[in-house]
This record gives sequence, C-alpha cells and structure tokens, in this order.
Amino acid sequence: MKIGILGATGPAGSGLGVRLAVAGHEVILGSRSAERAQEVVNELKGRWPEHELSISAADNEGAAMADLIVIATPWDAAWTTAKAVGEHLHGKVVLSMANALVRVGHEFQPLVPPRGSVAASVQAAVPDCRVVAALHHVPAKELGDLAHPVESDVLVCSDHADAKRICMDLIGQIPVMRVLDAGDLTQAAPIEAFTAVLLELNLRYKTRVAIKFTGRNLPA
Ligand SMILES: NC(=O)c1ccc[n+]([C@@H]2O[C@H](COP(=O)([O-])OP(=O)(O)OC[C@H]3O[C@@H](n4cnc5c(N)ncnc54)[C@H](OP(=O)(O)O)[C@@H]3O)[C@@H](O)[C@H]2O)c1
Repeated sequence: MKIGILGATGPAGSGLGVRLAVAGHEVILGSRSAERAQEVVNELKGRWPEHELSISAADNEGAAMADLIVIATPWDAAWTTAKAVGEHLHGKVVLSMANALVRVGHEFQPLVPPRGSVAASVQAAVPDCRVVAALHHVPAKELGDLAHPVESDVLVCSDHADAKRICMDLIGQIPVMRVLDAGDLTQAAPIEAFTAVLLELNLRYKTRVAIKFTGRNLPA
C-alpha cells in the first residue's frame, strides 16, 4: 500500500514510516518542506542500509496523494494540516496518532480539543474521510529503532469499521505489536489523554514506557 505521512520529519512519523517500509509498504514522508523531508529520508536510508526501504519525500500535499494517510503533526496542527490537503483525503483512511498535551513545568497536562479529541477534530475538518485513531502510546524512539521490536499494545478506534480493520491489519504487520480494537472514535478522547500519564511515568522513572493489557480472551 502507498502510505503518506503528514508531519513525518518528527520522531513519531519517521519512526512509523520506517517500520511500515520494512513491512513492504511504499511510504511517502511529508513535511511543510519537501527538502526537510528529503533530509529525513536520507538519514533513514543511511541509518538502515541493510534494508531496502521504499521511502520517498514530498511536501504534505504530495504525501496526501497516497492511499492511506497518517497525521503525525503536533496536536494543534493536526486538523488544520488535514484541512489544507483535504481535497486529497476524500473517502480515504486517515490515521491520527496525535495527542493533545502540554507540559507545564514538571507536569504533563492533557488538553481537550474542540471535538473532544484530536482525531474527532480531524474527522470534523474533513467529514468525508474515514478517521482512525491509533498509535498514541507507542514511544517514537523505539518505533524508529529497527534493531529492536516494540513491545506494546496499540489501541485502535474509529467510527468506520472497514477503516479500523485496515489500520489494525497494517499496524499488526509491525513485529511484536499487539493491536486491540478499542471501539468507536469517542474512545480517542481518553486514549489521547492517557498519554499524559505515560509521559509522567517516563519523567519519574527515567524510561520510555509502553502499555500491555492483560485479560482473558484478549488476543495473544
Ligand atoms: N514522540 C512520541 O513518542 C509520540 C508517540 C506517539 C504519538 N505521538 C504523537 O505524534 C505526533 C508527532 O509527534 P512528534 O514527536 O514526531 O512531533 P514533532 O516532532 O513535534 O512534530 C512532527 C512534525 O510536525 C510538523 N509540524 C510542527 N509544527 C507544525 C505546524 N504548526 N503545522 C504543520 N506541521 C507542523 C514538523 O514537520 P515539518 O516542519 O517538517 O513540517 C514536525 O517535524 C504528536 O501529535 C504526538 O503527540 C508522539
């Protein structure tokens, strides 16, 4: 599949991009500057020469022409970025991984975006795309480190069952990650907000936590 990532010059978008490229997808890293995206492509190819990474660079509009679009910008740029390339998103699956958070001193505070979550705000900005929220809790540095698998559960939610299935299958191609269906897009609000707790733990324990759920009948 051809996957375009908006805001892919940051650790989250580039980390996801490299994982999806290893899984065999054609990935376009998008940026407000195609030159900056090209620098990141060069860095990734230089870092992982043993992998034949199918990764190219474009501006965000070029990346939005792919089949499936990921939004990996900061939260307050997510829906404006989606709206700016909205003419290319009609009917497409749009995966939002953005968390609305602010750091105040030593505290991470979750924020409430206009529609309750970043993902719902993106859905409202481009009503006829199919927004899926996922990957909020996966530490970007680990995501970008191909030498090690990312031991993490990934919660996925959406109001579009077919789009959710597509994203669950896609994320399930990343080794070791376990994908869990978290329901409708209403769940994006608590999922996004919970990231503040993870960042607090990172700060206190000088680590990068990921989440793993336990329970009978969960997939292995
Ligand atoms: N970091 C993590 O561990 C992690 C994990 C899971 C989810 N997330 C979420 O994923 C998203 C990206 O995380 P990140 O750490 O990679 O973020 P980041 O480095 O702060 O930003 C990613 C990219 O977004 C673009 N950007 C910045 N401000 C923008 C604006 N005003 N308008 C349009 N584009 C803008 C920039 O690319 P250009 O300047 O090249 O356009 C930047 O490189 C965030 O919403 C975060 O909450 C992060």
